[in-house]
Parts: sequence; structure tokens; C-alpha cells
Amino acid sequence: MELEATARRLVAPECGILAADESSATIGKRFEALGIPCTVETRRAYRELLFTAPGIERYLSGVILYDETLKQASQGGARFVDLLARREILPGIKVDAGAKPLAGHPGEFITEGLDGLRERLAAYREQGARFTKWRAVITIDASRPSRTAIRSNAEALARYAMLAQEQGLVPIVEPEVLMDGDHDLARCETVTGMVLHQVFESLHAHGACLEGLILKPNMVVAGKKCPEQPGVEPVAEATLRTLRRHVPAAVPGIAFLSGGQTPERASAHLNALNQGASRPPWQLTFSFSRALQEPPLAAWAGQADQVASAQKLFTHRVRLNSLARMGRYSKDLEAVP
Ligand code: G3H
Repeated sequence: MELEATARRLVAPECGILAADESSATIGKRFEALGIPCTVETRRAYRELLFTAPGIERYLSGVILYDETLKQASQGGARFVDLLARREILPGIKVDAGAKPLAGHPGEFITEGLDGLRERLAAYREQGARFTKWRAVITIDASRPSRTAIRSNAEALARYAMLAQEQGLVPIVEPEVLMDGDHDLARCETVTGMVLHQVFESLHAHGACLEGLILKPNMVVAGKKCPEQPGVEPVAEATLRTLRRHVPAAVPGIAFLSGGQTPERASAHLNALNQGASRPPWQLTFSFSRALQEPPLAAWAGQADQVASAQKLFTHRVRLNSLARMGRYSKDLEAVP
């Protein structure tokens, strides 16, 4: 019951999820590109900027944290988990240990982190987390993905989901088909369908409670290097078709990752997905990292005197995606008020 209520709350109308769970190495690369030193303190200050942005509680139901961040506090001494909970934003935690090369399958990955996961989950719940995330990555090229990569990752996702639910934590199940490469929209649709099919087969085999989990997939898009880039409508149609074919209606919500799309494009796609003539059985919302954070991170660039303007950009981006999540976004709204 608690799982189902939490899952429904995470995908409530007008709300979406902020993914702020970049590992120190990943956030380090984003900081480096902007000349920001990557230290425990700069990472903490940046997360404080995001979590204290005025107005975000109207549009965010949850924030996914990284282990370091879960244990950090604001300058005023409030633990981030408490600060978020006070704003009625559910704190979540990324619990995978990252995608590692899959032995015997060059160019493919398996996400690790199952060892000791039960104990880690119990500790995270004790520390205030209410939901969790595990990301699997699937690569596309002429000979990939292999059946082995799809099966191994689906199995790990299902084992993770079962352990999370056992501890009363809603699992966000994230099988990401990467946008890297020159594949077209049709190929992404085929692969995404195969992956989702396998993920739900594994979840079913393990006995996961579908009503108490959130799916976090990629949208069906062409590879970044594909010479033919489809418009917004074909992406929305292919994405909805794939989801309808492979995601059970019992799942309460689908919270998309942005995957390297520009912020504007990710909002336009989410909007089109929520404008379809016939309503899909699940809530369709966002769980973006880059598409929410790129504008505020660039505006802040590590400068204390830019915090307020960066927060304004962040709240604006979150609001635009809340509108997109209801099918009410338009490009004209992009101008920062
Ligand atoms: O695991 C990836 C994040 O949760 C989503 O990040 O929106 O930048 O793809 P993204």
C-alpha cells in the first residue's frame, strides 16, 4: 500500500522528478566543462542551489540524490533529505554502482551494485529515502545490443526492484537505450521495444509489484549522429506506440530521462507525448537531469553571486516541464519571465 501511494505521488499531475544523482565523476565532468572546481563543497553548494530554488515544490514530487548528497546539509545546517521533505518533495537515492564493461561483449555494459544492496537500502530508508533508482545502459550499433546484454541488465533491474520493494522503497527502473550513434528512429523503436519487453518479463518472473514502481525509459529518438532527425510528432508517436506495446497498464507512471536532448527538445517531446488524442494508461512525466540542470549550471558557473539568477532559470525549466507533462507547454513560454 505504501509503495503504491508513494509511486502515485511521484507521478502526480503537474509533477515530475529532478535527477540530481550524478556521481562525483559525472558531475565533475560537467563542472570541468564550465571551469568549476569539483570539490565536496562545490558539489554541496550546487545541490543546495537546486534544492532551495524558490517555487520548485509546486512542480517537483521527488529528487534523486547521490550517496554523498544524501548525507550533506545546507549551509544553514538542514540535512538535504529533511529540507526536501519539508518542501513536500520526496527524497530518493541512486543505488546502482554504475555501468561496467560486460565481459565477453565489447562495447556493452552491465550495471553493478547488487552485492550488499539489501543492507544499503535499509540504511537509506533509515536516512529518509523513500524511493530509489537503478540505471542500465544499452548501446546500439550494427551488431549491438546483444541478447545477453539485454537479458543480463533486465535481470539485474528486476533483482534490484525486488530488493527495493522489500525495504518499502519505490524502485525507479531505468533501462536507457543510449542516443549515441547514427541509428534511425525505427531502430531505436525496435531496440527499446525489445528492452522493455525483457525488463517486464524479468520483473514478472521475480514477482515485482508493478503498481509500486516507476519506469524511467528513454524516449524513442534517432541517434545523435543520424543524418535524418525526426520531428517532434514522429518521436512522440514512436514512443507511445512502443510503450503501449510493452509496458503493462498496472505501472502507475513513466518518468522519462532526457538522455542528451536539449532542454527545449525534451520539453517539446514530453508535451507532445501528453497531447495524444487517446489517453495512455500511465502518467507520463519527467525525471530529467541534464534537461533541467544545463541552464542553471551554466548560469551559476561556481559564482556565489549568480545563485539567485541560476535558481530563477532552474525554477523556470522545472515549470516548463510541469506544463509539458500536462500537454500545456509551447515554445513561446521559453522566454524567462
Ligand atoms: O541516469 C540518468 C539520469 O537519471 C537522467 O539523466 O536526463 O541527463 O538523461 P538525463
